[in-house]
Amino acid sequence: MALVRTLIDGDHDPFEPGLPPGLSELYDGDLHFPPSPAERPFVISNFVSTLDGVVSYEIKGQAGGSTISGSDTADRFIMGLLRASADAIIVGARTVNDVSPESLWIPEYTYPDAKHFYRQYRVNVLQKPEYPLLVIVSGSGRLELERAIFRTPGVRSVVITTSTGRDALVRAGATKVPSIQVHALDARSGTIAPLAMLRLLYGQLGVRRLLHEGGPVLFGQFLAAEAVDELFLTLSPQIAGRRADAIRPGLVQGIEFRPDCAPWFQLLSVKQRAEHLYLRYHRTGGHRPTE
Ligand SMILES: NC(=O)c1ccc[n+]([C@@H]2O[C@H](COP(=O)([O-])OP(=O)(O)OC[C@H]3O[C@@H](n4cnc5c(N)ncnc54)[C@H](OP(=O)(O)O)[C@@H]3O)[C@@H](O)[C@H]2O)c1
Repeated sequence: MALVRTLIDGDHDPFEPGLPPGLSELYDGDLHFPPSPAERPFVISNFVSTLDGVVSYEIKGQAGGSTISGSDTADRFIMGLLRASADAIIVGARTVNDVSPESLWIPEYTYPDAKHFYRQYRVNVLQKPEYPLLVIVSGSGRLELERAIFRTPGVRSVVITTSTGRDALVRAGATKVPSIQVHALDARSGTIAPLAMLRLLYGQLGVRRLLHEGGPVLFGQFLAAEAVDELFLTLSPQIAGRRADAIRPGLVQGIEFRPDCAPWFQLLSVKQRAEHLYLRYHRTGGHRPTE
């Protein structure tokens, strides 16, 4: 039975089904992605936001997306589906450090009921390894190496960091954890350029489809670098509000665009389950899509 109802669907490929039947039934439609653009992975992003655009309450233990979505079933299913579709998932260090130490960035972690469908799709249809590569971006290298992401069989992770971060990780024992690869890249004031990350992922690690799961700081940098191709956005029917001096983040934090170069998007699909909406957008560049 479908988990969502499709209201608008711009994903049509009459020649080749993207999803196997179990998943297309749950998703009430098919899912295709274009091939990666030249020399970098195709980048999909996934967020959940309140009606007023807040993506984190910034309250300890309640800072993550599940508080925003109200642990919504279909949001969790779509998150798992996107994970199953990707070669790698990229996240900022804060998004990792804010969640439970047991958290895993694998498809069935968010929606266990579809575990077999996800696996069938990933391994048999897409011919990808069992789990996507987890890519963590941390300038400082401050990561808790006891986390389940570093200790779960089959889960591989790459930390993209600075030379200072690499030294911190070596001191903390990262070289003794076989599932972790550390890559130090050039940085300016501790900030690594998104295009350098994408070059590494594409050229050295074979990543062709990358899922960006935030947070808003890392996402803003990717948007500014024109390195986001699609946005999956769950709109959750609650309002979080903000104090005048508070920094409950929206989708993007730490970067602002001028109207003449703000990224615009074209709507690809709209799905619905009860009061939640699941939107899929394609980035059109710095211009409004034509009507
Ligand atoms: N609702 C949603 O869909 C959603 C999705 C994701 C996250 N969230 C929430 O959003 C909250 C805020 O996340 P956030 O945006 O502050 O954090 P974030 O982007 O996840 O992580 C920021 C950290 O990542 C590292 N980093 C980011 N860009 C870098 C670069 N270019 N070069 C080097 N290092 C870089 C730095 O780590 P170091 O400090 O180690 O140098 C930085 O402090 C979190 O509570 C999270 O749970 C919500």
